[in-house]
Amino acid sequence: MPQEKPDTPASISGPGKIIAVGGAKGGIGKSLFVANLGVLLSQMGKRIVLVDLDLGGSNLHLYMGVWSLTSRIDDFLDKNVENIHDILTPTKYGPLLIGGGGGKLGAANIHYSRKQKLLKAIKTIDADYVILDLGGDTTYNILDFYLSADQGFVLTTCDPASYLDAYGFIKTSLYRKLTRLFSPESSYYNHRDGLVDQLIKDHIFTNTADNGNRIDALLDALVQEKPVYHGIIKGLLDNFRPGVVVTMVEKEDQAVDLITRLRKVSGKILSVELNHFGCVPFEKSIQQSAKELVPSVAKAPDGTFAKALRRIALKMEMA
Ligand SMILES: Nc1ncnc2c1ncn2[C@@H]1O[C@H](COP(=O)(O)OP(=O)(O)OP(=O)(O)O)[C@@H](O)[C@H]1O
Ligand SMILES: [Mg+2]
Repeated sequence: MPQEKPDTPASISGPGKIIAVGGAKGGIGKSLFVANLGVLLSQMGKRIVLVDLDLGGSNLHLYMGVWSLTSRIDDFLDKNVENIHDILTPTKYGPLLIGGGGGKLGAANIHYSRKQKLLKAIKTIDADYVILDLGGDTTYNILDFYLSADQGFVLTTCDPASYLDAYGFIKTSLYRKLTRLFSPESSYYNHRDGLVDQLIKDHIFTNTADNGNRIDALLDALVQEKPVYHGIIKGLLDNFRPGVVVTMVEKEDQAVDLITRLRKVSGKILSVELNHFGCVPFEKSIQQSAKELVPSVAKAPDGTFAKALRRIALKMEMA
């Protein structure tokens, strides 16, 4: 029986680490975070590639000071170029960029085979960090991009709707991971077990009042029915450790309160431990630098936003 291993590419094929930035709400600062984190890590001497995987609403290039793209993900998916390295766009601020789709109808709903092609290619990118900017929802494509990373970040503001969406993102990505336990891409594919598969699906898709869909109820059932898989799923849960970042923070105590609640509910219902990476302050000047197409950390390297992001970058480096 194989050991649970992360669905990660970088650990297999290259020295780099894949970081995915999600959170199921639009407009909470994901793209701005990706761009500025990329610039900071690049200033720290790291080779960075940023990938705009918000395929239906790509705008990461603007945050990186690139007004118009001459190549984008579509060029690779449509086979206009052979290699993903052929669509890298240089930026003034250090990171290389892979720009997103050109806004075609249905661009976000890429077919399974195109998604697999993209995931495979991302794993070959030659960089210290490949940072994926995800769209603000929980479609299977977004969840699969998120789960392909070595480290996933979930962003939230202190707004209750954003908090609920962040929890929803963590929950659905965990559910996606569990339901893909026996998928063809999984190391357990050759050890498919119908009963375990059914227990997982019953747990996830049937809302029973007595277990409240708690993951520990699934673990209890596995102990009874299939103890070997209890250990496997426990390992999978231990490996699933979303990094949470609170963005647009105006009052630090609100962010602390939010993290405490998010941690509590994720632990209780999902048996998932969260890793709090830090908070990003709300700054009016950021909106101005976004309008000027200059990354804030390049414009104000000693500002509070840059300092907060630098702390997160250092924590990432140590993780
Ligand atoms: N820390 C911040 N302080 C002030 N404004 C911010 C901050 N972070 C982001 N913004 C502003 O919020 C807006 C949305 O940011 P961004 O595009 O990064 O969100 P997003 O989560 O990527 O949205 P989407 O899911 O739609 O792609 C932008 O105008 C940006 O300048
Ligand atoms: Mg965005």
